[in-house]
Amino acid sequence: MKFLVLNGPNLNMLGIREPEIYGRLTYEDLEVFIQQVCENLHIDVEIFQSNYEGALVDKIQQAYFDKVDGIIINPAAFTHTSVAILDALKAVSIPAVEIHISKVEEREDFRQISYPGKACFATVMGKGIDGYKEAILLLKNKLQEA
Ligand code: DQA
Repeated sequence: MKFLVLNGPNLNMLGIREPEIYGRLTYEDLEVFIQQVCENLHIDVEIFQSNYEGALVDKIQQAYFDKVDGIIINPAAFTHTSVAILDALKAVSIPAVEIHISKVEEREDFRQISYPGKACFATVMGKGIDGYKEAILLLKNKLQEA
């Protein structure tokens, strides 16, 4: 099984950025955590972070040609703005799970819409970095059911 984990803008600043919201673990810690979880589950994973919307769109399109089985995406601020990421996920129609480190539903009004989330079969939020593990397991179970 081959997964792609995508992280959007400012997630490379984890550990520095608003630690009271996002915690003290760094982006590198997150990458190591995802690698370990996937290794234990015998999942081949690519992890990609970008501050650019188009780079995330390109990566989603590439996933189609690379025959990726599932996508886990934290679109970060693009969650609340990006029809382009939504359209890319719909274009490739690869099963996807949306993940957010913080409890977005308890935050500002402008965070209450998720465009990419409309193309995801599940959303995990408010569980910190551990949420990525839940998202990976949800995706694995979904693909095994299929
Ligand atoms: C986030 C929540 C978004 O609203 C925010 O813009 C982020 C991170 C999260 O993981 O909690 O950058 O996606």
